[in-house]
Amino acid sequence: MLRVAVMVSGGGTNLQAIIDAVKDGTITNAELVGVISNNADAYALTRARENGIEAICVSPKDYENREIFNDALLDKVNELKPDLIVLAGFLVKIPEKMVHAYSHRIINIHPSLIPSFCGVGFYGLHVHEAALKKGVKVTGATVHYVDEGMDTGEIIYQKAVEVLDGDTPEVLQRRVMEQAEWKLLPAAINMIANK
Ligand code: GAR
Repeated sequence: MLRVAVMVSGGGTNLQAIIDAVKDGTITNAELVGVISNNADAYALTRARENGIEAICVSPKDYENREIFNDALLDKVNELKPDLIVLAGFLVKIPEKMVHAYSHRIINIHPSLIPSFCGVGFYGLHVHEAALKKGVKVTGATVHYVDEGMDTGEIIYQKAVEVLDGDTPEVLQRRVMEQAEWKLLPAAINMIANK
């Protein structure tokens, strides 16, 4: 069984998709061993608790500086002994120490077709605002391995999603989640768990 830890910052709809996929057998050979958030109020933590998964908060607010926070974050991750770390809307840059400790064992979902609309400042709704501003007709989502850079690691899966006339960032975000993110991320975990 692949031990999977999920890191989240917000609502956790991607986490929910993973939980559902484990329950309905879309993901096999994997168990969710913990959910870690930098944000104590993240609804994702409630989703974890409601599903009997350990929910842990490591907030930068509780630490003197970034380095101490980074070490605490890595300690919490290590305690879960994960084989795979899934960033499901985790909006904190992964410390280099963690990238090296878990080389090729951290994956991230990004709500665009990388290399478009990615890198510093491109997260959450901002990604869809930028896509609409540029006027692209197709966007999508990408699952990739995490390296030292921002959204630069090896691509695992991508799925295209149409942009429609009259889309708002919120409407586009929802379509990208429904048509791409909530399918790609469970599929990537299942692929890794069964290879
Ligand atoms: C998702 O759209 C995810 O792709 C994005 O944050 C959202 C989290 O939603 N991640 C990034 O932008 C990372 N650069 P969720 O909490 O409902 O899963």
